[in-house]
Amino acid sequence: MEFLDAVKKRHSVRDFSEREVSREDLLAIVDAAKLTPSWANSQTWKLVIASGQTLEKIRRHHESAGQESQDTPEVPPLHRDTMGPVGMKNVSGWMSGINDFMSKDPQAMAKDAASLYNAPAVAYLLMPRASALYSAYDLGAFGQTLMLAAADRGLDSIPAMEYVLHPKFLHEALDVGDDYVFALGIGLGYEKEDAMINQFRASRMDNDEFLTIKD
Ligand SMILES: Cc1cc2nc3c(=O)[nH]c(=O)nc-3n(C[C@H](O)[C@H](O)[C@H](O)COP(=O)(O)O)c2cc1C
Repeated sequence: MEFLDAVKKRHSVRDFSEREVSREDLLAIVDAAKLTPSWANSQTWKLVIASGQTLEKIRRHHESAGQESQDTPEVPPLHRDTMGPVGMKNVSGWMSGINDFMSKDPQAMAKDAASLYNAPAVAYLLMPRASALYSAYDLGAFGQTLMLAAADRGLDSIPAMEYVLHPKFLHEALDVGDDYVFALGIGLGYEKEDAMINQFRASRMDNDEFLTIKD
C-alpha cells in the first residue's frame, strides 16, 4: 500500500468483527513500530499484546467494573480546561459530531466501549513510571507507527484511553510490575463493516488554523 493511502485508511474503529489477528501480522507491525525514533535512542516503550483468553478475562472485568470502579488511569486524562481554546473547540466539535451521527442509536458508543470495542487484540502501550515527557512523545510515535503498519496490512485500529481505565486489574492480569504505567491501549482487528459507528469520520482543522511557515 502507498504510504499516504495507509495514512488515510487509518481511522478509529469502534466496533470490530470477530475475525482474529494473526500472530504473523502482530509481529510484522511490531517490527515496523520499533523503527520509531526516540530520545537518544532510549526506546523506553514496552508493549503487551492481549488476545484470546487473556483478553476475554480483561473484557469481562471491564464490562462489569463500569463506572463504579475506584481504579483510575495511571496517565491522568486531559481536562478540557487545560487544553486551551483550540483544543476545547475541537473536542466539543468532535463530541457533538459523533453524537449527532449516532443519534439513531445513541447507546451504541457506550456499549461498544464497555466491550473494549469488541477488539480481538489489544496492544497495551507502557512507559516507565518515572518518565520524562519525551518518553510520552516517543511512545505516542511508536503507537502511530504501529497503527500505520496495521493499516498497511489491512488491519483496523483504535487508540483508546478506554483500554487503560482499570490499570490495577491490568497489572495483575498481564503480570506487569509497578515500575511501568499503562499509558494507552490500541485495539486491533477488522472493522465490522455494517456498524454505523465505523462510518463516522472525525474532521481536521484547516492548515491555516495551526500552521506558520516563515521564509
Ligand atoms: C491518546 C488517545 C486517547 C483516545 N481515547 C479514546 C477513547 O477512550 N475512546 C474513543 O472512542 N476514542 C479515543 N481516541 C480516538 C480519538 O477520538 C480519535 O483519534 C480522534 O477523534 C480522531 O479520529 P480518527 O482516529 O478516526 O482519525 C483516543 C485517541 C488518542 C490519540
